[in-house]
Amino acid sequence: MSSDMFKSIVDRLHQAEKIVFVTGAGISQESGIPTFRGKDGLWRKYDAMKLATIDAFYEDPKLVWEWYEERRRNVLEAKPNAGHLAIAELEKFKSVYVLTQNVDGLHQRAGSTKVYELHGSIITIRCTRCNFKDSITSSFSHLPPACKCGSILRPDVVWFGESLPQDVWHTSMQQAISCDVMIVVGTSLAVSPANLLPAYAKQNGAIVIEINPEETLTSTNMDLSIRSSAARAIPELVAAFQR
Ligand code: OAD
Repeated sequence: MSSDMFKSIVDRLHQAEKIVFVTGAGISQESGIPTFRGKDGLWRKYDAMKLATIDAFYEDPKLVWEWYEERRRNVLEAKPNAGHLAIAELEKFKSVYVLTQNVDGLHQRAGSTKVYELHGSIITIRCTRCNFKDSITSSFSHLPPACKCGSILRPDVVWFGESLPQDVWHTSMQQAISCDVMIVVGTSLAVSPANLLPAYAKQNGAIVIEINPEETLTSTNMDLSIRSSAARAIPELVAAFQR
């Protein structure tokens, strides 16, 4: 990138009013939570079709729940890293929205106040039949856990083949279309419709920056690709907004 282009990006960061982060599993990797498609990715070890679809759940709810309980324990023991914390800190200076594919709740625990969970939450549990839905951080003694109504409970996550929560998706599109800067962190952008968000931002003339140690499917459409880890690059980038 030429020094003129870099200067123009830094100027745009200073002037930006609304900054939208689109985050994926990579932002939590340095908090000890595995990604899905990387070297030690979950989908390299496990078959998503046996663990993350509604058919798989009804086929063997105990197996699916055992896998989710292990992930829930890992997530609840994890701490937000410098990347999550820097995004939360930026709210002191700019209007910041976080559109996350992650289900781990680490952005909220870092202090971000406008977080939209596109794929739901592993901490929230809901009933497969009645309206019960609650945040539950303790482990279940019996798997699959039962609701008071007698039906089985499930994690409030979006499984393959299921729709995104429509209100969350609608708001996320609106924020993407109206932002000045979009920062895409730690996602392979392999999953639709979340991977459409950078194109919505571009429609509005926003600059789109990627933070990822690896090249992704849409790296060529980015205005700037920072090949570094989230915990290292986000604090540095956030400092550029404040200078
Ligand atoms: P992926 O596992 O597909 O991609 C993670 C990305 O993070 C990769 O591009 C890595 O290069 C990058 N990465 C790894 N370590 C990093 C670090 N320390 N800092 C920054 N980036 C790093 O995860 P997602 O894109 O989030 O969906 O996956 C999207 C969806 O696919 C998930 O939400 C999940 C999964 O199936 C559902 O469960 C519905």
